[in-house]
Amino acid sequence: MKSNRKLCEIRGNDLRKPRLSRNIFEPNDRPGKLHEKQMKKIRLSTEIEELGPEELDHVEQALLSRAQTISKIAYSPYSGFHVGAAVLLENGEILQSSNQENVSFPTGVCAERLVLGYAGANYPDKAPVMLAIVAQRAGEETWAGVSPCGVCRQTINEVENRFAKPITMLILCANGNVMRIKGISELLPLKFDDLNS
Ligand code: THU
Repeated sequence: MKSNRKLCEIRGNDLRKPRLSRNIFEPNDRPGKLHEKQMKKIRLSTEIEELGPEELDHVEQALLSRAQTISKIAYSPYSGFHVGAAVLLENGEILQSSNQENVSFPTGVCAERLVLGYAGANYPDKAPVMLAIVAQRAGEETWAGVSPCGVCRQTINEVENRFAKPITMLILCANGNVMRIKGISELLPLKFDDLNS
C-alpha cells in the first residue's frame, strides 16, 4: 500500500509539469502573440436605429401591437418568457405567433421561427418584409428587450434569400424604444448562405 501511494504521487507531479510546452515557446512567442504586428484584422460593424414610440409609422405600430397581443397567450410554462412575433407580408397582411415550449426543452419553438414557418407554408409567394419581436417575463409589467436567437437569425436569413428581400426587424426594448434593424446581415455577419462558396 505504501509503495503504491508513492507511485501515484510521482505520476501526479509529472502531469503538473508540461515540459514540452515550456521548451517550445519563448515567453513572448505564445501562439496568440505570433505575428501580431503583421496580422490583418477585419472589423465588422452593425447599424441599428433606435426610435421612440412616436417615431414609428402606423404600420410599425400595428405590427408591434399584434406581437404584444399574441405574446400574452404564449405557451411558455418552462421559461416563463413570453415572446410574440408578427410578420408583415408584402401584400399588407399581418401574421403572428408566440413561442411554443415543450417539456423536452430543445423541442420548443421560438415565436419568430413559428411565424416565419407559417408564412412560408401558407403564403409561399408573398415575401415577409417586416418582423416585430417583443417579450415579457411572466408576472412583469414591463417589456423585456429580446434579440432573435442564432437559429432564428439563420431562419430569417433563409427567408430573405428565398424572396431576395431584406426583412426589417423591430425589437421592443425595455425602455419602450424600438430598435429597427434593416436586414439580417446586421445581426448575422459572415452568415452562411451559399453551399458553393
Ligand atoms: N424565445 C423566442 O421565442 N424568441 C427569441 O428571440 C428568444 C427566445 C423563446 C424560446 C423559449 O421558449 C423562451 O423564449 C426562453 O428562451
